[in-house]
This record gives sequence, C-alpha cells and structure tokens, in this order.
Amino acid sequence: MHTLTRRGFMAAVGSSLMALHYPSAAGAATLLQRPIPRDGSLLPVIGLGTWQAFDFDANDNTANTDGLATLQRLLEQPRSVIDTSPMYGRAEAALGRLLEVADTKQQSFIATKVWTNGQRQGRAQIDASFRQLGRDVIDLLQVHNLLDYPTHLPTLQALKREGRIRYIGATHYLSSGYASLVRIIESGAIDAVQVNYSLLERDAASRVFPAAAANRVAVLVNRPFAEGAIFQKTKNKPLPAWATALGCTSWAQFALKFILAQPAVTCVIPGTRNPKYLVDNLGAAASAAPDAETAQRMAAHFDRL
Ligand SMILES: NC(=O)c1ccc[n+]([C@@H]2O[C@H](COP(=O)([O-])OP(=O)(O)OC[C@H]3O[C@@H](n4cnc5c(N)ncnc54)[C@H](OP(=O)(O)O)[C@@H]3O)[C@@H](O)[C@H]2O)c1
Repeated sequence: MHTLTRRGFMAAVGSSLMALHYPSAAGAATLLQRPIPRDGSLLPVIGLGTWQAFDFDANDNTANTDGLATLQRLLEQPRSVIDTSPMYGRAEAALGRLLEVADTKQQSFIATKVWTNGQRQGRAQIDASFRQLGRDVIDLLQVHNLLDYPTHLPTLQALKREGRIRYIGATHYLSSGYASLVRIIESGAIDAVQVNYSLLERDAASRVFPAAAANRVAVLVNRPFAEGAIFQKTKNKPLPAWATALGCTSWAQFALKFILAQPAVTCVIPGTRNPKYLVDNLGAAASAAPDAETAQRMAAHFDRL
C-alpha cells in the first residue's frame, strides 16, 4: 500500500483545507468549562470522540480534511478533550497525524485507553499509543471496558508517578458495567470515569454519578447521542419553542444540554469528524446548563416524541 510521507501528508491536507471554510464555534469565545475534581483544572464541557469517525486511511484526503477542520474548530478551546482508543482501528494513528498540524502547541487534552489482556501486552499497547499520538505525556489513560483492570492498574499508577500520564480512568458503555465501575470509583484508584449517558440511556445518573461526585472523580460521558439513535427519534420533529430560551438551536444541542444538567458531568465526548456537527455540538456549551427541573421537562418532552 502506498503511504504518504509526513511532508506529503501535510501538504495534501493543508492545501485542500485552504479551499474550504468552516464557521468557528461561537466565534472563538470561551465556552463552558468544568473542573477536574481532583485538582480543579478546567476542561471545556464538550470534547470529541473518535470511535468510527477517525478510523480512516492515511491516504483518504476527504477524511483527513474533515478531520483536521474538526480538530481545528475544537482546539479553539484549549484543553479540549479528545477521546480515542487502540480499539478504534486506525483512529489513534489518524489523530496523531492530524494533531501534528492542528495542535502544534500540544494544548489538547488527550484521553486514550488500554484494551488488552496481560501486563506486558498492556504496556506495549500504551507505548504504541504514545508513539501514534506523538506525545511524551498522555493526559488520561483509561482501562477500556474494564478489560483486565486489576492487571493494568499498577502499570497506570507507575506511569502516573513517572509523569507520563496525568490521570487514571476506567470506562464502560453498558449498564452491566456500572456496579464494577462504582466499586472502582469507591476504591479511590481512578481520577476519571467514562460512561454512557443520554436522553435514551439515563441509568448512570442514579447508578454512577453519585459515587463519582462523592469521591471527586471526573465524569466523561460517551454515547451522548446513543450512537445517533437520538436523531432517528427526533427526525422531522421541531424543537419545542421553549428550547430556544435554553440556548438550543438543534436537537444535538438539546441532547447535550440535557447531559450537562448533571453537575457530576465534567465533559461530554460526541463522536464525529464532521466540522459542522462539531460546531453544532460546541454550541451546547455557549450558554448555561439547564437546572434539574428543566432537564426533567426535556426528558419528558423527548419521551413523548
Ligand atoms: N467503552 C468505551 O470506552 C466507549 C464506548 C462508546 C463510545 N466511547 C467514546 O465515546 C464517543 C462518543 O460515542 P459514539 O461515537 O459511540 O456515539 P455518539 O457520540 O452518541 O453518536 C455519534 C453519532 O452522532 C452523529 N452526530 C454527532 N454530532 C452530531 C450533530 N451535531 N448532529 C447530528 N448528528 C451528529 C455522528 O454522525 P457522523 O458519524 O455523521 O459524524 C454519529 O453517527 C466515541 O467516539 C468514543 O470516543 C467510548
């Protein structure tokens, strides 16, 4: 297979980008941020997921161009969270290539994962992530779906002591993982938990978020659109008039604001490499999050669609 050189890649992506214009997110205004409970450092509340969206070939110019434009819009907010995993095929590699152009000052907050069995295999996979992502330090290293968590935890603790990772995390995407996640949160071993929560999957609010809040653990929310199922339900349905007063101009913003109504949530990571969707998603952070009563009204309205 023909592989682009780094210089060739930059030239190809850079020149095709010049021909395109994507609007910025709310100008470059600062959007809502929330603190990582452990140390109070602030993160923008909307980040980016890379599952499927960034799993593409190095020679795919259209995907590279869209991916780069998406990252550039995202990184108008320094410290924006980008979530990836060795499980996501070519996503770590694609992300690493594009960040060389989009994030020369390394201002993004990179979250990746370890997803394998065994200590040696885990360490090798993490070393590959450092290389693919082009980072000496990774912000957040999570045990993906808790796979072989007891084996990987000492590796992550050692990497944190060495300053190679800043935070330790654990993820899941099904409610069957919640009881284990809560035990791990309560053990004090992790700084961040990543879990599914959306208008269609609401259990984490009662089953995971209280433990995270009580133990000062950051919460990243995955599958905020239930992998797009939210949009099947809202298709051809107008937003309620009262959503405008909440600052929503799209169903995506409605869905994200519903999630941000949870005070335990630190950051939501919708998946896309579509720069227009990214700008739309960031719009959910341009005004205050709804209160609990409003979130209930949002859920009730969504249920009746
Ligand atoms: N166990 C785990 O650790 C785990 C599990 C699942 C997910 N995750 C992480 O969480 C991230 C998010 O989850 P996900 O990607 O599975 O699902 P998701 O974010 O709930 O949904 C992604 C879908 O929403 C669409 N979309 C995004 N923004 C939109 C907008 N503004 N308007 C309309 N459609 C929009 C995307 O379309 P396009 O594809 O056309 O852009 C895609 O089809 C993942 O990418 C991954 O980083 C982690």
